[in-house]
Amino acid sequence: MSIILDGKAVAETIKDTVRKEVETTGLNPGLAVVIVGENPASRIYVNSKKKDCAECGIRSEEFALTADAGEEKLLAVINELNNRPDIHGILVQLPLPKGYSEQKVIQAIAPEKDVDAFHLMNVGRIMVGDYAFLPCTPAGVMALLDHYGIDPQGKHCVVVGRSDIVGKPQAMMLLHRHATVTICHSRTPDLGAITRQADILVAAVGKVNLITADMVKPGAVVVDVAMNRDENGKLCGDVDFPGVEPVASYITPVPGGVGPMTRAMLLCNTLASAKAAIDLRA
Ligand code: GUN
Repeated sequence: MSIILDGKAVAETIKDTVRKEVETTGLNPGLAVVIVGENPASRIYVNSKKKDCAECGIRSEEFALTADAGEEKLLAVINELNNRPDIHGILVQLPLPKGYSEQKVIQAIAPEKDVDAFHLMNVGRIMVGDYAFLPCTPAGVMALLDHYGIDPQGKHCVVVGRSDIVGKPQAMMLLHRHATVTICHSRTPDLGAITRQADILVAAVGKVNLITADMVKPGAVVVDVAMNRDENGKLCGDVDFPGVEPVASYITPVPGGVGPMTRAMLLCNTLASAKAAIDLRA
């Protein structure tokens, strides 16, 4: 039997803290959410982000562009938002439709408003451990571990997945917390031989049942970042939860684990950006 890392509950306590801080400081944080085209998953994510903001007293403004609006139009919207003092965070929901350069679009966001922390300036700052924002998903994983008193220091942390958004920054954050970190990916031979060494295992690939019980050291902490659908259309992660749960000491559920933490971190980043803007003007 393992302890469930209840991201849903922890995210609610973080949201409470954000809400109280917005109230007591009188800050008026504003988040611009930009969505291009009609991707149904993106629509669900954007609606959730707007709802989260409303619950915490953060203003959100949606900018919806049709898929054929074009990159120039999108860049013009971003430029306008960069120059608006009442907007502290700019999030362009990814993926963008065909014909848009995601890199070009992300690099157009002012780094001090880049609450996703995808801009190269913010990516670089994570590398040296001197950051304004951390990307929401790996930051959410760290906050969840912290909440349960799980200290990565001295542990062998194995991150499966090397995406720019999750795997790479996750590894760096664990390294900054004095873990020994191994990054695995699709070309790692004998994945289980590596994952079995993990004290903390973070799975972030997007492949149903990638991590099975035989790949987990008894007593390991298992964090499942992925959001997949199984053959019945049910939400699931990369970890075979029923199989792994009895082996792990702590484990995240999917849904209700990392997902809500990711959403909470966006609120924290937006609040932090509003605070920094005040500091800059002071
Ligand atoms: N699409 C999927 N995840 C994310 C995210 O964290 N940020 C943005 N902007 N788009 C996404």
